[in-house]
Amino acid sequence: MDTAPTNSSPAGPVTAVIVVAAGSGQRLGYGVAKAKVPLGGDTILMHALRGVAAAGIAQQICIAIPPGDADLQGLCAAFTRELADGLARTAESPYGVQIPVVTVVDGGANRADSVRAAMAALLPHTEAVLVHDAARALAPEAVFHRVAAALGAGASAVIPVIPVVDTVKTVEPTTGDGVAVAPELVTGTAPREGLRAVQTPQGFTFAILKRAHEAAAEFDADQAALVTDDAMLVELLGVPVHAVRGASQSLKITTPLDLILAEGLLEGPLGARWVEG
Ligand code: CTP
Ligand code: MG
Repeated sequence: MDTAPTNSSPAGPVTAVIVVAAGSGQRLGYGVAKAKVPLGGDTILMHALRGVAAAGIAQQICIAIPPGDADLQGLCAAFTRELADGLARTAESPYGVQIPVVTVVDGGANRADSVRAAMAALLPHTEAVLVHDAARALAPEAVFHRVAAALGAGASAVIPVIPVVDTVKTVEPTTGDGVAVAPELVTGTAPREGLRAVQTPQGFTFAILKRAHEAAAEFDADQAALVTDDAMLVELLGVPVHAVRGASQSLKITTPLDLILAEGLLEGPLGARWVEG
């Protein structure tokens, strides 16, 4: 019998994790695609992929990278080899254990386009999909497990969230005489108890995610620019979106300050992934 781990299509129902990593990282301002920015002696994308692998819930990991980026293609190939090597070294691996199929696709012009490109490359029998931002490179395994557990318990859509610590106000640009005083005027204060900051991985049944993105594919450029996550597209369908506890270390590495925080988390005594928050 063949004891080597295989990388063929699994036969049963498939859970896929889409990792969107095709952004350019303008706000980080590093001069290279954010996915390949150094973090903790490796890169942002490699940390994100190791987190997905460590969670152990995916039969397929589908990664959207900037079109034609040979560095990131190489990085994904190295990750695939690392998965196979890791499993081969795991003595207690039962016969037939499969490593996740790793698929790499060209991302699109915006995040939703990248998700759609990845969805088009998912395996037959895909039932559940978690969509994860590579930029949330340090998301702990426990968050993947909470999202997957809610899907397993019957949710069609589930997002990880954390409480908002700041008071959040709505504003509008000042007009008339007000312009000389300040650029914006406060229009209201949202009650903080009911607010949550939203993270990834966000989990969906594949059927619902497909429907949500088919609807969004019809958006004009202005509407498309307002789409910042997948759950908001599901909300537009009227499908309930459930929320589980996220983690503070799932921060989205967006600005140079975030990168410093992420480096600090990795240097912590236990390593970022083991700190619950
Ligand atoms: N993303 C993507 N395809 C795009 C745009 C974004 O796959 N066309 C991904 C990013 O790679 C990231 C996630 O979506 O993992 C969240 O996007 P964001 O944090 O905004 O990353 P960037 O778009 O790279 O950053 P910026 O907006 O500062 O350019
Ligand atoms: Mg962006």
